[in-house]
Amino acid sequence: IASGTKAIHPTGSTVSLWDRAQARGHRGGVFWMTGLPGAGKSTIARAAESRLFAQGIDISVLDGDTLRAGLCADLGFSEADRTENVRRAAAVARILAETGQVVLVALISPRTADRDLARQIVGDGFREIFIDADQETCEARDPKGLYAAARAGRISGFTGIDAPYDVPATPDLRLATGLDSVADVAGRLAAYVTDSVALG
Ligand code: PPS
Repeated sequence: IASGTKAIHPTGSTVSLWDRAQARGHRGGVFWMTGLPGAGKSTIARAAESRLFAQGIDISVLDGDTLRAGLCADLGFSEADRTENVRRAAAVARILAETGQVVLVALISPRTADRDLARQIVGDGFREIFIDADQETCEARDPKGLYAAARAGRISGFTGIDAPYDVPATPDLRLATGLDSVADVAGRLAAYVTDSVALG
């Protein structure tokens, strides 16, 4: 095999997306939740997951902290590592969505180019959800104490402090988390997801 030649031969499924959707009662899809640290991505994703599961939707969550404990344990927070983190999450999300699952991805994914890459990897059924809380609000919440650590110089390259976050210009859905309860915001996300993956 000549160097540079990829000796890989992906197989296609013999089970159609339509047959899978019929069996489940809904289509698959990837709902890519982006936002600053502390904006509420994981909290909203988990609350929406419970609701959607209760409605009979086959649902899973790919969360940054969880992925970084396993699949992405070799990655840090450099620009290149964040891009790779996004790429892997998108590749897994695509595989799950192709089985007909609904996937909520909760990743800071701070760069527009990386989110565009995720959209390209996933293809049809990708929706960008902006979990919107301003930086002051996120810093006041500081659930993991990381903003304080970044301010104190114990962490460098922290998103929102000394690493960039590109605000999504045209998200498919924007959910503000500053004022409303988690239940309200999760309810709005769940309703959007249900509509998006409905059959027919
Ligand atoms: S990224 O940018 O999409 O690759 O990040 P992600 O995989 O979502 O991981 C974000 C969580 O990692 C913690 N953490 C940091 N975030 C940003 N910058 C730096 N330098 C950093 N170091 C650790 C942080 O707790 C993020 O959690 P969330 O849930 O977003 O608050």
